[in-house]
Amino acid sequence: MKKKSMKSELEKEFQVKCSKCNDTGWIHKGNLVYRCPCRLVKITDSISQRMKIPKRYKDKDISNFKPIERYGHHFVLEKVKNYINSPFYKEGKGLIFIGPPGVGKTHLAVSILKEFFLKRGIVGLFRDTKTLLFDLKSTFDGSASTREILEEVLEAPILVLDDLGSERLSDWARDILHYIIIQRYNELKPIIITTNLELKSETEIDDSLEERMGKPIISRILEICEPIHMAGEDLRGKPEDYLEQLDEKEEDRLEESIS
Ligand SMILES: Nc1ncnc2c1ncn2[C@@H]1O[C@H](COP(=O)(O)OP(=O)(O)O)[C@@H](O)[C@H]1O
Ligand SMILES: [Mg+2]
Repeated sequence: MKKKSMKSELEKEFQVKCSKCNDTGWIHKGNLVYRCPCRLVKITDSISQRMKIPKRYKDKDISNFKPIERYGHHFVLEKVKNYINSPFYKEGKGLIFIGPPGVGKTHLAVSILKEFFLKRGIVGLFRDTKTLLFDLKSTFDGSASTREILEEVLEAPILVLDDLGSERLSDWARDILHYIIIQRYNELKPIIITTNLELKSETEIDDSLEERMGKPIISRILEICEPIHMAGEDLRGKPEDYLEQLDEKEEDRLEESIS
C-alpha cells in the first residue's frame, strides 16, 4: 500500500503538467514558435549558460532590482521596462548604462536579457568586455575558435557588453571592439552596454569612454544606445537587508524634512 502511494507521488512529480507544450513553455508550429499560455517558461540553468550569464547574477532580475528613490532609480527602471516592452530592439536600438561601480548596471543589463527570453523567447548573450578580449586574444591565430567567438558575438540577437572601457585599450583591442560595434550597428543588432566611465571628456586628460574608444565609435554608440545615467551607492558585498535599511533611512529623512 505504502509502495503504491510512493509510486503515485513520483508519477505526480514527473507528470507533464501542460500537454500543449510538454512543459517547455513553447509551442512549435511549422517554423514558428509561440509562447505557451501556461507560462511555464523559465530561465533554466542551461538557458542561463547559453546566454553566458555569470553565476553571480543567476538570481538577479527585474523583480529584485530595488529602485532607490533618492537616486532616481524609479526613472531608470521605467526606462528599462519601456525598452523591454518596445519594438526598439528590432531597429537595432539598445541602451548604455553609465555610472560608478556597484550601482546596479550589470544587474539591469542581465535583467534585460532575462526578460527578452521570458517575453520573446530571444536568447541573447552576455559578455564581459575584458574577458571577451582576453578570449579572442588567446585564440587570435585565425583558428576556428576565434571565428566561433566572434560569430557568437556578432550574431547574438541581443548582446550585453559589460564594463566597456574598464581599462586602457591596445590598438588591437580597440580595433576589434570597433569591428564588433560597427558590424552590429550595420546589421541592426542591439547592444546593451555598461560602463563606469563618463561618455565624454570634461578636460583633455580626463579618462572618458570617448578618450578610450575614440570619437567616431562613441558617436555610433550614441546613435543606437540610449544613455541611462545611474547614481547610487556601491552595493557590492553589502548584506541582503542593506537596501531595506536604506529605505528606512529614506523614510526617516523624509519625516525629518516634513517636520
Ligand atoms: N537597486 C538595487 N537593487 C537590488 N540590488 C542591487 C541594486 N543595486 C545594486 N544591487 C546589487 O549590488 C551588486 C552590485 O551591482 P552591479 O549590478 O554588479 O553593479 P555595477 O554593474 O553598477 O558595478 C549586485 O549584487 C546587485 O544585484
Ligand atoms: Mg558591472
